[in-house]
Amino acid sequence: MGRLAGKAAFVTGAASGLGRAIARLFAAEGARVALADTDSAGGQALAAELGERALFLAHDVSEEAAWIANLGAAAAAFGRLDILVNNAGIGPTGTIEKLSLEDWRRVHRVNLDGVFLGCKHALPHLRAAGGGAIINMSSVAGLIGTPTLFAYGSSKAAVRQLTKSVALHCAARGDGIRCNSIHPAFIATPMVDRMVATARAPAEARQALADQVPLGRLGEAEEVARLALYLAGDESRFVTGAEFVIDGGLTAR
Ligand SMILES: NC(=O)c1ccc[n+]([C@@H]2O[C@H](COP(=O)([O-])OP(=O)(O)OC[C@H]3O[C@@H](n4cnc5c(N)ncnc54)[C@H](O)[C@@H]3O)[C@@H](O)[C@H]2O)c1
Repeated sequence: MGRLAGKAAFVTGAASGLGRAIARLFAAEGARVALADTDSAGGQALAAELGERALFLAHDVSEEAAWIANLGAAAAAFGRLDILVNNAGIGPTGTIEKLSLEDWRRVHRVNLDGVFLGCKHALPHLRAAGGGAIINMSSVAGLIGTPTLFAYGSSKAAVRQLTKSVALHCAARGDGIRCNSIHPAFIATPMVDRMVATARAPAEARQALADQVPLGRLGEAEEVARLALYLAGDESRFVTGAEFVIDGGLTAR
């Protein structure tokens, strides 16, 4: 028996990086997993790898109609929905003076509106399953200032706050739904690859990230997936409205 046996999960941004690692681990632990992403090729490849446990859904987290349709499709396919992982996100760089209004709005549409819509429309499905867990992927950028990731940090800080309000709303209703946020830093995924690729010397830029981390390296997607697994399952049944930093000690300084 896996740690998520009998449960069904909906994971956004499941075609790459952290979302893919989370979906793989959840499926290995017995869950059925809806893989929701705008990247159809990546999502379908993972669905083929995971077999009958997985279902790919073409999904843009910033579109309300997509949420309503795809959460309904997942719940119908699996007969229930117990877990939502709001993981999809984008991270364009830019200081307050360089960032355009359009980029500011684009980041918040995906990173913040997407989490709002996911929580809002998943709640009735989780309630129908008798309770459940929502995991929102924030960032250390939601906890500390990030001058070169200005809009990203703002969107991730709002996700931290939204998470606590959803948690308290559900606790007050006594409906058995918990909501927590994860705050990673410098995990080796395509997002970080793209970020260092824009530097003049990408290898040095990657090493500079690792040098900032007290544990001396980038994190692995699997390490974040292990934390998501804990928050998704019944082992964390007394945990809600909490923020979980996974950053190799970066923000302890
Ligand atoms: N990698 C890190 O160091 C790190 C650190 C802190 C937080 N995060 C957060 O973790 C999450 C996952 O990041 P990652 O590093 O795996 O990035 P990634 O770029 O490897 O994967 C992101 C996935 O989200 C999908 N996506 C993007 N926009 C979407 C949309 N509108 N609708 C649906 N899917 C969409 C992409 O297609 C991709 O598959 C993000 O929210 C990111 O901000 C990552």
